[in-house]
Amino acid sequence: MSLLFVAVTSRSATRPKVFDVRSYGAKGDGKTNNINAFAKAWKDACAWNGRSRVYIPRGKFYLGGVTFKGPCSGKISFFIDGTLLAPSNNDDIKKDTWINFQYIDYLTISGSGIVDGQGKESWPHNNCYKNDKCPNLAINMGFDFVNNSRIEGITSRNSKAGHFNLFKVDHFNVTGVKITAPGDSPNTDGIKIAFSSNIQISNTHIGTGDDCIAILSRNTKFDIYNVTCGPGHGISVGSLGKNKDEKNVKDLTVRDTVFTGTRNGIRIKTWESSASTIAISNLVYENIHMIDVENPINIDQKYCPYPPCQKMGDSQIHIQNVTLKNIWGTSRSKMAVRLQCSRSFPCKDIQLIDINLKHNGIDGPAIALCENVKGSATVQMAPPHCLH
Ligand SMILES: *[C@@H]1O[C@H](CO)[C@@H](O)[C@H](O)[C@H]1NC(C)=O
Ligand SMILES: *[C@@H]1O[C@H](CO)[C@@H](O)[C@H](O)[C@H]1NC(C)=O
Ligand SMILES: *[C@@H]1O[C@H](CO)[C@@H](O)[C@H](O)[C@H]1NC(C)=O
Ligand SMILES: *[C@@H]1O[C@H](CO)[C@@H](O)[C@H](O)[C@H]1NC(C)=O
Repeated sequence: MSLLFVAVTSRSATRPKVFDVRSYGAKGDGKTNNINAFAKAWKDACAWNGRSRVYIPRGKFYLGGVTFKGPCSGKISFFIDGTLLAPSNNDDIKKDTWINFQYIDYLTISGSGIVDGQGKESWPHNNCYKNDKCPNLAINMGFDFVNNSRIEGITSRNSKAGHFNLFKVDHFNVTGVKITAPGDSPNTDGIKIAFSSNIQISNTHIGTGDDCIAILSRNTKFDIYNVTCGPGHGISVGSLGKNKDEKNVKDLTVRDTVFTGTRNGIRIKTWESSASTIAISNLVYENIHMIDVENPINIDQKYCPYPPCQKMGDSQIHIQNVTLKNIWGTSRSKMAVRLQCSRSFPCKDIQLIDINLKHNGIDGPAIALCENVKGSATVQMAPPHCLH
Protein backbone atom coordinates (compact mmCIF):
# COMPACT_ATOMS: atom_id res chain seq x y z
CA MET A 1 0.00 0.00 0.00
CA SER A 2 2.69 2.50 0.95
CA LEU A 3 4.73 1.53 -2.13
CA LEU A 4 1.77 2.34 -4.35
CA PHE A 5 1.36 5.66 -2.57
CA VAL A 6 4.99 6.57 -3.24
CA ALA A 7 4.63 5.63 -6.90
CA VAL A 8 1.54 7.81 -7.31
CA THR A 9 2.93 10.89 -5.58
CA SER A 10 6.25 10.78 -7.41
CA ARG A 11 4.44 10.48 -10.75
CA SER A 12 2.26 13.50 -10.03
CA ALA A 13 5.33 15.41 -8.92
CA THR A 14 6.85 15.01 -12.38
CA ARG A 15 3.64 15.47 -14.35
CA PRO A 16 3.46 18.94 -15.85
CA LYS A 17 0.78 21.43 -14.93
CA VAL A 18 -1.42 21.75 -18.02
CA PHE A 19 -2.55 25.08 -19.42
CA ASP A 20 -5.18 24.18 -22.02
CA VAL A 21 -5.65 27.05 -24.47
CA ARG A 22 -9.43 26.38 -24.44
CA SER A 23 -9.62 27.46 -20.80
CA TYR A 24 -8.28 30.82 -21.97
CA GLY A 25 -11.01 31.17 -24.57
CA ALA A 26 -9.29 29.61 -27.61
CA LYS A 27 -11.63 28.15 -30.21
CA GLY A 28 -10.65 25.42 -32.65
CA ASP A 29 -13.13 26.57 -35.26
CA GLY A 30 -10.56 27.64 -37.87
CA LYS A 31 -11.77 31.28 -37.76
CA THR A 32 -11.43 32.89 -34.33
CA ASN A 33 -8.09 34.63 -33.94
CA ASN A 34 -6.64 32.92 -30.90
CA ILE A 35 -3.65 35.23 -30.27
CA ASN A 36 -4.89 36.55 -26.93
CA ALA A 37 -5.90 33.15 -25.57
CA PHE A 38 -2.55 31.62 -26.56
CA ALA A 39 -0.61 34.57 -25.13
CA LYS A 40 -2.42 34.28 -21.79
CA ALA A 41 -1.94 30.52 -21.61
CA TRP A 42 1.77 31.00 -22.34
CA LYS A 43 2.10 33.73 -19.69
CA ASP A 44 0.63 31.55 -16.95
CA ALA A 45 2.56 28.44 -18.03
CA CYS A 46 5.82 30.38 -18.21
CA ALA A 47 5.30 31.83 -14.73
CA TRP A 48 4.45 28.41 -13.23
CA ASN A 49 7.12 27.37 -10.80
CA GLY A 50 7.58 23.79 -12.00
CA ARG A 51 7.04 21.86 -15.20
CA SER A 52 4.29 23.35 -17.32
CA ARG A 53 2.57 22.52 -20.56
CA VAL A 54 0.67 24.74 -22.95
CA TYR A 55 -1.80 22.31 -24.49
CA ILE A 56 -3.41 22.69 -27.90
CA PRO A 57 -6.04 19.97 -28.34
CA ARG A 58 -7.46 18.69 -31.61
CA GLY A 59 -9.17 21.27 -33.77
CA LYS A 60 -8.13 24.02 -36.14
CA PHE A 61 -6.74 26.96 -34.24
CA TYR A 62 -6.36 30.08 -36.33
CA LEU A 63 -3.52 32.16 -34.93
CA GLY A 64 -2.02 35.50 -35.95
CA GLY A 65 1.69 36.31 -35.54
CA VAL A 66 2.73 35.74 -31.94
CA THR A 67 5.92 35.78 -29.83
CA PHE A 68 6.29 33.56 -26.79
CA LYS A 69 9.00 35.04 -24.56
CA GLY A 70 10.91 33.70 -21.59
CA PRO A 71 12.68 33.39 -19.36
CA CYS A 72 10.22 30.97 -17.75
CA SER A 73 10.25 29.77 -14.15
CA GLY A 74 10.47 26.07 -15.01
CA LYS A 75 10.72 23.63 -17.88
CA ILE A 76 7.98 24.34 -20.36
CA SER A 77 6.39 22.40 -23.18
CA PHE A 78 4.18 23.46 -26.04
CA PHE A 79 2.12 20.43 -26.91
CA ILE A 80 0.28 20.53 -30.23
CA ASP A 81 -2.32 17.86 -30.96
CA GLY A 82 -4.42 20.03 -33.25
CA THR A 83 -3.62 22.18 -36.25
CA LEU A 84 -2.35 25.74 -36.00
CA LEU A 85 -3.46 27.79 -39.00
CA ALA A 86 -1.59 30.92 -40.07
CA PRO A 87 -3.43 33.81 -41.70
CA SER A 88 -3.28 33.12 -45.40
CA ASN A 89 -2.60 36.80 -46.11
CA ASN A 90 0.99 37.57 -45.07
CA ASP A 91 0.03 41.14 -44.08
CA ASP A 92 -2.11 39.74 -41.28
CA ILE A 93 0.93 38.21 -39.56
CA LYS A 94 2.67 41.58 -39.04
CA LYS A 95 5.97 39.93 -38.06
CA ASP A 96 8.94 38.19 -39.71
CA THR A 97 8.07 34.99 -37.91
CA TRP A 98 4.60 33.63 -37.42
CA ILE A 99 5.25 31.73 -34.15
CA ASN A 100 8.39 32.92 -32.38
CA PHE A 101 9.97 31.55 -29.20
CA GLN A 102 12.63 33.71 -27.49
CA TYR A 103 14.89 33.64 -24.45
CA ILE A 104 13.88 30.23 -23.15
CA ASP A 105 15.75 27.41 -21.49
CA TYR A 106 14.25 23.87 -21.47
CA LEU A 107 11.50 24.24 -24.05
CA THR A 108 9.90 21.22 -25.74
CA ILE A 109 7.63 21.52 -28.76
CA SER A 110 5.86 18.21 -29.29
CA GLY A 111 2.66 16.40 -30.16
CA SER A 112 1.23 14.88 -33.30
CA GLY A 113 -0.20 18.16 -34.56
CA ILE A 114 0.42 20.37 -37.55
CA VAL A 115 1.75 23.86 -37.97
CA ASP A 116 0.24 25.07 -41.24
CA GLY A 117 1.66 28.28 -42.72
CA GLN A 118 -0.98 28.41 -45.49
CA GLY A 119 1.68 29.79 -47.82
CA LYS A 120 0.02 29.16 -51.15
CA GLU A 121 -1.51 32.62 -51.47
CA SER A 122 1.79 34.41 -50.77
CA TRP A 123 4.21 32.30 -52.84
CA PRO A 124 3.50 34.33 -56.00
CA HIS A 125 4.58 37.49 -54.06
CA ASN A 126 8.01 35.95 -53.51
CA ASN A 127 9.63 37.87 -56.34
CA CYS A 128 12.61 39.59 -54.67
CA TYR A 129 14.86 38.69 -57.59
CA LYS A 130 12.98 41.28 -59.66
CA ASN A 131 11.22 43.48 -57.08
CA ASP A 132 13.17 45.32 -54.30
CA LYS A 133 9.93 46.15 -52.51
CA CYS A 134 8.96 42.51 -52.27
CA PRO A 135 7.22 41.59 -49.01
CA ASN A 136 9.14 39.93 -46.20
CA LEU A 137 7.23 36.68 -45.97
CA ALA A 138 6.88 35.02 -42.58
CA ILE A 139 8.76 31.97 -41.36
CA ASN A 140 6.55 29.36 -39.69
CA MET A 141 8.41 28.96 -36.42
CA GLY A 142 11.47 30.73 -35.01
CA PHE A 143 13.70 30.10 -32.01
CA ASP A 144 15.98 32.92 -30.84
CA PHE A 145 18.23 32.58 -27.78
CA VAL A 146 16.79 29.21 -26.84
CA ASN A 147 18.90 26.56 -25.05
CA ASN A 148 18.53 22.91 -24.01
CA SER A 149 15.39 22.50 -26.04
CA ARG A 150 13.82 20.29 -28.66
CA ILE A 151 11.15 19.88 -31.30
CA GLU A 152 9.71 16.42 -31.74
CA GLY A 153 6.90 14.72 -33.58
CA ILE A 154 5.12 17.69 -35.12
CA THR A 155 4.54 18.45 -38.81
CA SER A 156 5.24 21.83 -40.39
CA ARG A 157 3.69 22.47 -43.76
CA ASN A 158 3.34 25.11 -46.44
CA SER A 159 5.31 27.89 -44.78
CA LYS A 160 5.26 31.26 -46.54
CA ALA A 161 9.06 31.59 -46.28
CA GLY A 162 11.19 29.03 -44.33
CA HIS A 163 9.68 26.49 -41.93
CA PHE A 164 12.02 26.62 -38.91
CA ASN A 165 14.62 29.27 -38.12
CA LEU A 166 17.16 28.77 -35.33
CA PHE A 167 19.21 31.77 -34.21
CA LYS A 168 21.61 31.79 -31.24
CA VAL A 169 20.42 28.42 -30.09
CA ASP A 170 22.53 26.00 -28.05
CA HIS A 171 21.87 22.31 -27.30
CA PHE A 172 18.82 21.88 -29.49
CA ASN A 173 17.36 18.68 -30.99
CA VAL A 174 14.94 18.28 -33.85
CA THR A 175 13.68 14.71 -34.09
CA GLY A 176 10.80 12.83 -35.66
CA VAL A 177 9.60 15.96 -37.41
CA LYS A 178 7.98 16.22 -40.85
CA ILE A 179 8.44 19.30 -42.99
CA THR A 180 6.60 19.63 -46.29
CA ALA A 181 5.87 22.18 -48.99
CA PRO A 182 5.57 21.74 -52.77
CA GLY A 183 8.85 21.38 -54.67
CA ASP A 184 8.09 24.54 -56.63
CA SER A 185 7.21 26.79 -53.65
CA PRO A 186 9.88 29.53 -53.46
CA ASN A 187 12.21 29.94 -50.44
CA THR A 188 10.40 27.43 -48.28
CA ASP A 189 13.63 26.22 -46.60
CA GLY A 190 13.16 23.40 -44.10
CA ILE A 191 15.51 24.38 -41.25
CA LYS A 192 17.77 27.45 -41.34
CA ILE A 193 20.34 27.83 -38.62
CA ALA A 194 22.83 30.56 -37.67
CA PHE A 195 24.98 31.40 -34.63
CA SER A 196 24.16 28.08 -33.02
CA SER A 197 25.93 25.09 -31.46
CA ASN A 198 25.32 21.50 -30.36
CA ILE A 199 22.47 20.92 -32.76
CA GLN A 200 21.09 17.50 -33.55
CA ILE A 201 18.63 16.87 -36.39
CA SER A 202 17.49 13.27 -36.75
CA ASN A 203 14.72 10.93 -37.92
CA THR A 204 13.20 13.75 -39.88
CA HIS A 205 11.71 14.06 -43.36
CA ILE A 206 12.08 17.34 -45.21
CA GLY A 207 10.56 17.99 -48.63
CA THR A 208 10.29 21.64 -49.70
CA GLY A 209 10.97 24.12 -52.50
CA ASP A 210 14.38 25.25 -51.15
CA ASP A 211 17.18 23.90 -48.91
CA CYS A 212 16.16 21.01 -46.68
CA ILE A 213 18.70 22.30 -44.15
CA ALA A 214 20.73 25.52 -44.51
CA ILE A 215 23.72 25.93 -42.20
CA LEU A 216 24.76 29.57 -42.10
CA SER A 217 27.26 31.76 -40.23
CA ARG A 218 28.91 30.76 -36.96
CA ASN A 219 27.59 27.28 -36.43
CA THR A 220 29.51 24.55 -34.61
CA LYS A 221 28.92 20.98 -33.49
CA PHE A 222 26.12 19.71 -35.65
CA ASP A 223 25.03 16.09 -35.94
CA ILE A 224 22.50 15.41 -38.69
CA TYR A 225 21.42 11.81 -39.22
CA ASN A 226 18.62 9.68 -40.62
CA VAL A 227 17.18 12.56 -42.56
CA THR A 228 15.32 12.13 -45.84
CA CYS A 229 15.47 15.15 -48.11
CA GLY A 230 13.40 15.69 -51.24
CA PRO A 231 12.07 17.50 -53.05
CA GLY A 232 14.36 20.42 -52.28
CA HIS A 233 17.79 21.91 -52.83
CA GLY A 234 19.72 19.61 -50.48
CA ILE A 235 21.65 20.09 -47.25
CA SER A 236 23.65 23.24 -47.65
CA VAL A 237 26.47 24.96 -45.84
CA GLY A 238 26.02 28.55 -46.92
CA SER A 239 25.66 30.56 -48.75
CA LEU A 240 28.46 32.34 -46.93
CA GLY A 241 30.48 35.35 -47.97
CA LYS A 242 27.75 37.87 -48.56
CA ASN A 243 28.17 39.78 -45.28
CA LYS A 244 31.23 41.12 -43.43
CA ASP A 245 30.23 39.98 -39.95
CA GLU A 246 30.05 36.27 -40.76
CA LYS A 247 31.95 33.74 -38.63
CA ASN A 248 33.45 30.27 -39.09
CA VAL A 249 31.43 27.12 -39.54
CA LYS A 250 32.96 23.94 -38.12
CA ASP A 251 32.40 20.42 -36.82
CA LEU A 252 29.45 19.22 -38.82
CA THR A 253 28.44 15.61 -39.45
CA VAL A 254 25.76 14.49 -41.91
CA ARG A 255 25.24 10.72 -41.94
CA ASP A 256 22.74 8.02 -42.91
CA THR A 257 20.80 10.38 -45.10
CA VAL A 258 18.85 9.91 -48.35
CA PHE A 259 18.35 12.57 -50.99
CA THR A 260 15.56 11.87 -53.47
CA GLY A 261 15.09 13.94 -56.64
CA THR A 262 16.74 17.01 -55.12
CA ARG A 263 18.60 19.76 -56.97
CA ASN A 264 21.69 19.23 -54.79
CA GLY A 265 22.70 16.64 -52.24
CA ILE A 266 25.75 17.80 -50.32
CA ARG A 267 26.37 21.44 -51.04
CA ILE A 268 28.81 24.06 -49.81
CA LYS A 269 28.36 27.45 -51.42
CA THR A 270 30.28 30.68 -50.96
CA TRP A 271 30.04 34.01 -52.75
CA GLU A 272 32.58 34.48 -55.46
CA SER A 273 33.56 37.96 -54.27
CA SER A 274 33.13 37.48 -50.57
CA ALA A 275 32.90 40.19 -47.93
CA SER A 276 34.16 37.96 -45.10
CA THR A 277 37.36 35.91 -44.66
CA ILE A 278 36.28 32.89 -42.69
CA ALA A 279 36.77 29.11 -42.67
CA ILE A 280 34.46 26.18 -43.17
CA SER A 281 36.17 23.15 -41.66
CA ASN A 282 35.91 19.69 -40.15
CA LEU A 283 32.90 18.43 -42.06
CA VAL A 284 32.04 14.73 -42.40
CA TYR A 285 29.44 13.37 -44.83
CA GLU A 286 29.02 9.63 -44.44
CA ASN A 287 26.65 6.88 -45.68
CA ILE A 288 24.63 8.97 -48.04
CA HIS A 289 22.31 7.65 -50.71
CA MET A 290 21.61 9.87 -53.72
CA ILE A 291 18.55 8.95 -55.78
CA ASP A 292 18.27 10.88 -59.03
CA VAL A 293 19.95 13.98 -57.60
CA GLU A 294 20.83 16.78 -60.02
CA ASN A 295 24.17 17.73 -58.35
CA PRO A 296 25.01 15.07 -55.74
CA ILE A 297 28.30 16.57 -54.47
CA ASN A 298 28.61 20.29 -55.07
CA ILE A 299 31.27 22.54 -53.57
CA ASP A 300 30.61 25.84 -55.27
CA GLN A 301 32.85 28.81 -54.47
CA LYS A 302 31.65 30.62 -57.56
CA TYR A 303 28.18 31.35 -56.27
CA CYS A 304 27.32 34.80 -57.53
CA PRO A 305 23.58 35.25 -57.67
CA TYR A 306 23.21 39.04 -57.82
CA PRO A 307 25.01 42.33 -56.93
CA PRO A 308 26.96 43.23 -54.82
CA CYS A 309 28.54 39.95 -55.96
CA GLN A 310 31.15 40.37 -58.69
CA LYS A 311 32.46 37.53 -60.79
CA MET A 312 36.12 37.60 -59.73
CA GLY A 313 36.74 33.92 -59.04
CA ASP A 314 38.41 34.49 -55.66
CA SER A 315 36.19 33.66 -52.74
CA GLN A 316 37.94 34.54 -49.45
CA ILE A 317 36.38 31.60 -47.64
CA HIS A 318 38.68 28.69 -46.78
CA ILE A 319 37.22 25.23 -47.03
CA GLN A 320 39.28 22.56 -45.33
CA ASN A 321 39.17 19.08 -43.82
CA VAL A 322 36.06 17.70 -45.50
CA THR A 323 35.49 13.94 -45.57
CA LEU A 324 33.02 12.43 -48.03
CA LYS A 325 32.68 8.71 -47.31
CA ASN A 326 30.44 5.98 -48.70
CA ILE A 327 28.28 8.05 -50.99
CA TRP A 328 26.41 6.20 -53.69
CA GLY A 329 23.50 6.34 -56.09
CA THR A 330 22.46 8.21 -59.21
CA SER A 331 23.16 11.65 -60.58
CA ARG A 332 20.65 13.30 -62.90
CA SER A 333 23.38 15.47 -64.41
CA LYS A 334 26.62 14.27 -65.90
CA MET A 335 28.71 16.21 -63.39
CA ALA A 336 28.13 14.07 -60.31
CA VAL A 337 31.03 15.57 -58.36
CA ARG A 338 31.84 19.25 -58.56
CA LEU A 339 34.68 20.61 -56.44
CA GLN A 340 35.04 24.18 -57.63
CA CYS A 341 37.15 26.04 -55.10
CA SER A 342 38.67 29.48 -54.75
CA ARG A 343 41.75 30.45 -56.71
CA SER A 344 43.15 32.45 -53.75
CA PHE A 345 42.25 29.87 -51.09
CA PRO A 346 42.18 26.39 -52.61
CA CYS A 347 40.17 23.75 -50.73
CA LYS A 348 42.51 21.69 -48.55
CA ASP A 349 42.36 18.19 -47.18
CA ILE A 350 39.27 17.03 -49.07
CA GLN A 351 39.01 13.27 -48.61
CA LEU A 352 36.88 11.21 -50.96
CA ILE A 353 36.44 7.65 -49.68
CA ASP A 354 34.31 5.08 -51.46
CA ILE A 355 32.26 7.20 -53.82
CA ASN A 356 30.03 5.47 -56.36
CA LEU A 357 27.77 7.79 -58.34
CA LYS A 358 26.32 6.85 -61.70
CA HIS A 359 24.76 8.86 -64.45
CA ASN A 360 22.57 7.15 -67.02
CA GLY A 361 22.16 9.54 -69.92
CA ILE A 362 22.86 9.89 -73.61
CA ASP A 363 25.56 12.42 -72.68
CA GLY A 364 27.77 9.62 -71.35
CA PRO A 365 28.94 8.48 -67.92
CA ALA A 366 29.32 10.66 -64.84
CA ILE A 367 32.31 12.98 -64.48
CA ALA A 368 34.02 14.94 -61.72
CA LEU A 369 35.27 18.51 -61.86
CA CYS A 370 38.16 19.78 -59.72
CA GLU A 371 39.32 23.38 -59.55
CA ASN A 372 41.83 24.59 -56.94
CA VAL A 373 41.35 21.59 -54.68
CA LYS A 374 43.83 19.46 -52.75
CA GLY A 375 43.00 16.13 -51.21
CA SER A 376 42.83 12.40 -51.76
CA ALA A 377 40.56 9.71 -53.16
CA THR A 378 40.65 6.17 -51.80
CA VAL A 379 38.84 2.79 -51.94
CA GLN A 380 36.70 3.27 -55.04
CA MET A 381 35.89 6.43 -56.91
CA ALA A 382 33.26 6.65 -59.60
CA PRO A 383 33.24 8.99 -61.47
CA PRO A 384 37.05 8.87 -61.78
CA HIS A 385 38.56 11.48 -59.51
CA CYS A 386 40.45 14.55 -60.57
CA LEU A 387 42.51 15.26 -57.45
CA HIS A 388 46.29 15.55 -57.50
C1 LIG B 1 21.82 30.24 -23.53
O1 LIG B 1 23.22 30.00 -23.44
C2 LIG B 1 23.99 31.15 -23.70
C3 LIG B 1 25.44 30.73 -23.80
O2 LIG B 1 25.72 29.60 -23.05
C4 LIG B 1 23.74 32.15 -22.58
O3 LIG B 1 24.50 33.32 -22.80
C5 LIG B 1 22.25 32.50 -22.58
O4 LIG B 1 21.97 33.36 -21.49
C6 LIG B 1 21.40 31.25 -22.47
N1 LIG B 1 20.01 31.62 -22.68
C7 LIG B 1 19.03 31.23 -21.87
C8 LIG B 1 17.66 31.70 -22.21
O5 LIG B 1 19.21 30.52 -20.88
C1 LIG C 1 19.44 15.61 -27.65
O1 LIG C 1 19.57 14.22 -27.89
C2 LIG C 1 20.66 13.61 -27.21
C3 LIG C 1 20.66 12.13 -27.51
O2 LIG C 1 20.58 11.84 -28.84
C4 LIG C 1 20.50 13.77 -25.70
O3 LIG C 1 21.65 13.27 -25.06
C5 LIG C 1 20.33 15.24 -25.36
O4 LIG C 1 20.04 15.37 -23.99
C6 LIG C 1 19.19 15.85 -26.15
N1 LIG C 1 19.13 17.27 -25.89
C7 LIG C 1 17.99 17.90 -25.65
C8 LIG C 1 18.13 19.35 -25.39
O5 LIG C 1 16.90 17.35 -25.68
C1 LIG D 1 14.64 7.12 -39.35
O1 LIG D 1 13.63 8.11 -39.43
C2 LIG D 1 12.35 7.62 -39.76
C3 LIG D 1 11.40 8.82 -39.84
O2 LIG D 1 11.80 9.70 -40.87
C4 LIG D 1 11.87 6.62 -38.72
O3 LIG D 1 10.63 6.08 -39.10
C5 LIG D 1 12.90 5.52 -38.59
O4 LIG D 1 12.54 4.66 -37.53
C6 LIG D 1 14.27 6.11 -38.29
N1 LIG D 1 15.27 5.04 -38.30
C7 LIG D 1 16.03 4.79 -37.25
C8 LIG D 1 17.02 3.70 -37.42
O5 LIG D 1 15.93 5.40 -36.21
C1 LIG E 1 39.20 16.98 -39.37
O1 LIG E 1 37.82 16.83 -39.01
C2 LIG E 1 37.57 15.72 -38.20
C3 LIG E 1 36.07 15.58 -38.05
O2 LIG E 1 35.49 16.73 -37.46
C4 LIG E 1 38.29 15.87 -36.86
O3 LIG E 1 38.06 14.74 -36.07
C5 LIG E 1 39.78 16.05 -37.12
O4 LIG E 1 40.43 16.32 -35.89
C6 LIG E 1 40.02 17.19 -38.09
N1 LIG E 1 41.43 17.24 -38.42
C7 LIG E 1 42.15 18.33 -38.26
C8 LIG E 1 43.58 18.23 -38.71
O5 LIG E 1 41.70 19.36 -37.76
